[in-house]
Amino acid sequence: MPSTTHSRSRLRFLTCGSVDDGKSTLIGRLLHDTGSLTEDQHAQLLRHSAQYGTCGSNPDYALLLDGLIAEREQGITIDVAWRYFSTAERSFIVADTPGHAQYTRNMVTGASHCDLALLLVDASAGLLTQTFRHACLVALMGIRRCVLVVNKMDRIDFAADRFAEIESQFASFAERVGLREVTAIPVCARDGDNLVAGSVRMPWYAGPSVLGYLHEVTVPDQADRPWRLPISGVCRPDDSFRGYTGRLAAGKLRVGEAVCVLPSGACSTVREICLGDALLEHAEAGQSVLVRLQDEIDIARGDVLAPVGARPDVSDQFEADVIWLDDAPMLAGRPYRLQIGTAQALARLNAPKYRLNVETQEHLAARTLGMNDIGRVTLALDRPIVFAPFEEDPVLGGGILIDPVTHQTVGAVLIRFALRRAANIHWQALDVNRQARAAAKGQRPAVLWFTGLSGAGKSTLANALEQRLHRSGHHTYLLDGDNVRHGLNRDLGFTDVDRVENIRRVAEVAKLMADAGLICLVAFISPFRAERDFARQLLSAGEFVEIHVDVSLQEAERRDPKGLYRKARLGELRNFTGIDSDYEAPLSPELKIDTAQASVETAVEQIHAWLREHGYLEPA
Ligand code: ADX
Repeated sequence: MPSTTHSRSRLRFLTCGSVDDGKSTLIGRLLHDTGSLTEDQHAQLLRHSAQYGTCGSNPDYALLLDGLIAEREQGITIDVAWRYFSTAERSFIVADTPGHAQYTRNMVTGASHCDLALLLVDASAGLLTQTFRHACLVALMGIRRCVLVVNKMDRIDFAADRFAEIESQFASFAERVGLREVTAIPVCARDGDNLVAGSVRMPWYAGPSVLGYLHEVTVPDQADRPWRLPISGVCRPDDSFRGYTGRLAAGKLRVGEAVCVLPSGACSTVREICLGDALLEHAEAGQSVLVRLQDEIDIARGDVLAPVGARPDVSDQFEADVIWLDDAPMLAGRPYRLQIGTAQALARLNAPKYRLNVETQEHLAARTLGMNDIGRVTLALDRPIVFAPFEEDPVLGGGILIDPVTHQTVGAVLIRFALRRAANIHWQALDVNRQARAAAKGQRPAVLWFTGLSGAGKSTLANALEQRLHRSGHHTYLLDGDNVRHGLNRDLGFTDVDRVENIRRVAEVAKLMADAGLICLVAFISPFRAERDFARQLLSAGEFVEIHVDVSLQEAERRDPKGLYRKARLGELRNFTGIDSDYEAPLSPELKIDTAQASVETAVEQIHAWLREHGYLEPA
């Protein structure tokens, strides 16, 4: 664990609370009482207070933050409002995040940069579900120190026993979630009691004021940890110069120091550290620098430089806490883009081990995670990344998940540990390789992937094309949705989650078939772009041919070869593609066949001609 030193420099903290518990007043008043307002802001505060204030002839400090609230109401997205103030002893950065559950995303963003959290509660209302939720998120985000600001003490006549009750109720919860240092302070933010100075109205309270606490609290010093430099770019203006840029995430980096490049493990020595035009002898955590090494080493964005003697680990399978931030639920099996530090990888999440009840800390059974849910999940990446458990290093342990199709941030990932199995299962190199197998068959392996609505004609076309290829001596195999669902995928239904898994398995099987030297035809609805793209990237360039068997929903429904559309319309069949389950048409398929126009023979000829022209039917 990092040691703690008394840092006088800067403190970042997060404020969270529910609507109406006085957060705006508290921050407004701290800004005011520390003399951090400009003259204009001060004049405006007095003017607005006289006009709209709720504090009689006194200033209404909540109005200071009204501009921000108005922006929020207009729908202007503000992730987190950062406010700054300072005193002679210390400077402060406050992350002001909105309290509603739908703003979890903002809280997570704010908390990821903070040393401590102020949790506000209204003394007359006591602890709310929101309070537990906030405390739980704060703890998950690695913040260990927190102040419970029990506001509006005037409403309960400054009663010491009620305060003690709230304090002890919170303490037992805090302990369970791992908030180790909790300080409760009774406050009346509106009048300033225990905010900057003490309170004559609460003589029974002997602890610090809020500002007093903020001055005194000690936080871990990033400089004490081994240094880490996640590489964000390679600077190579000409052959004689090669530099690597990045923001030093922790520690202190010196010229002449031995460094290790991860994941590759290559080693060298620091030759130069540049900050803008200046050459530095050493760099500190938080500085964005350019580093040159003694040796020419292949280094790319996402790699991490670290001390030879204190390297972070590398893995491609993890157990993590995931905070889900999207309207659409998490889809186990879907490849999401994971960004950790400067590294990116495709991540596949397994169904949650559990979902957390934030109030009781109970572990609930869950198949997926919905908006704002928190769950424990294992995930597998398509490549190894450099990582650290989140509580040790938020930069290498905390990441975001991005939907590969919409590019939305859909979740936050807090890595807890790497799975040992990742290190114990190795890829077995085989002597008879794919080239040898393809050569033996005298053909170029490929996956011909037919996608389209039920009844579009995928199976019919794939079947006819396979016959034709077979006749000309090609070695083929046809994977058909209905058939595979009788065996390998017998356990799967038609929910989004099941379809994702259905396609994942088929893509993996198709890859094995191509590896075996076959031309593999796949006829599955495969309604989601993300999974078809996943199948494409599993294969070598040019091996995947996406064929969109296109037909209008009306035409597919008119054909209704299995009577399933009729059943779906009658409500007897749920999640039917095109009716109450989506079909995402390919954006740029290699081939598009309109089966309303073309006969089976014409369509097969069209595909065959395309394959011929593109060299797919030539010997390997
Ligand atoms: S996929 O969406 O997961 O790719 P897949 O191609 O395996 O679907 O299976 C589709 C076949 O299952 C259809 O041709 C149809 O015969 C049958 N089926 C049964 N229920 C459904 C449903 N709810 N949606 C789509 N197809 C269904």
